[in-house]
Amino acid sequence: MTTGSDILQVQPYPDGFGAEVSGLDLALPLSSAVQADLARLWAQYAVLSFRGQPLTLDQLEAFTLSVGPFGNDPYIAPMPGRPNVLELRREPDEKATNFGAGWHSDWSFLETPPAATLLRSEVVPPVGGDTYFADGRRAYDDLSETLKKLLEPLRAVHSARRSYGTQGVFAAETEARTMKIIVSEEADKALTHPLVRTHPVTGRKALYISPVYTVGIEGMTEKEGQAILTFLFAHMIQPEYIYQHKWTAGALIMWDNRCTMHFAKGGYDGHLRVMHRTTVAGEVPA
Ligand code: SIN
Repeated sequence: MTTGSDILQVQPYPDGFGAEVSGLDLALPLSSAVQADLARLWAQYAVLSFRGQPLTLDQLEAFTLSVGPFGNDPYIAPMPGRPNVLELRREPDEKATNFGAGWHSDWSFLETPPAATLLRSEVVPPVGGDTYFADGRRAYDDLSETLKKLLEPLRAVHSARRSYGTQGVFAAETEARTMKIIVSEEADKALTHPLVRTHPVTGRKALYISPVYTVGIEGMTEKEGQAILTFLFAHMIQPEYIYQHKWTAGALIMWDNRCTMHFAKGGYDGHLRVMHRTTVAGEVPA
């Protein structure tokens, strides 16, 4: 596939969900034509993968800023001297569940959740550690018109409470964890976003919910909300909507939180895994 900038090559993954981009060195400043191409490709494919990009942290920050301003990352202590970079690190002997081991869209409990997350691999275990992505756009498209009509006006309730709240999984954790998680009363709060979100660039609709952060549906009883959400979660993670990313060292992926959810698979006990993560600020979901 050719692009406006004529230097990058794009290999779309099946069903147009995700694409591998090559021909670029992300360590170097990108021309505005390349930046525009990447913005267009990212909006189209939702997950962009770049191999062979052993970026320094400065270069990762610079590339992130070429996509947009940094997002806000609550509840996890950033790297020392790097307020916008998280290190996702799990030691070989660590017993705590790997970070991100539940389907979620990053920080969807914020008023303005991040549009993009960038994740760059530093140390990749020889087994396990894949990242799975679910396509909320095709999952929405394939629903019946009757169900779409029912979902369209609904607002889903999002909260960080199950993870970072005072009664959440991290508060109850007994195993030592390398990453510094900040449990907070703030995380017990909740807000609502449209259950069906319209992408601000493509205009495509997507299911904007996740089992980790979506805790109910506004105006419905707990039982009613959970029944609908349980159906939708199972629908979204059917194999046809999933892209499974197998990591190599020095690779980078950039995903669109506005129309996807993701899940970090474990399976690498006994091995070190180190990733560096940044986010790009987003807008109020509509
Ligand atoms: C996450 O950002 O949820 C973690 C993804 C991963 O480590 O694969």
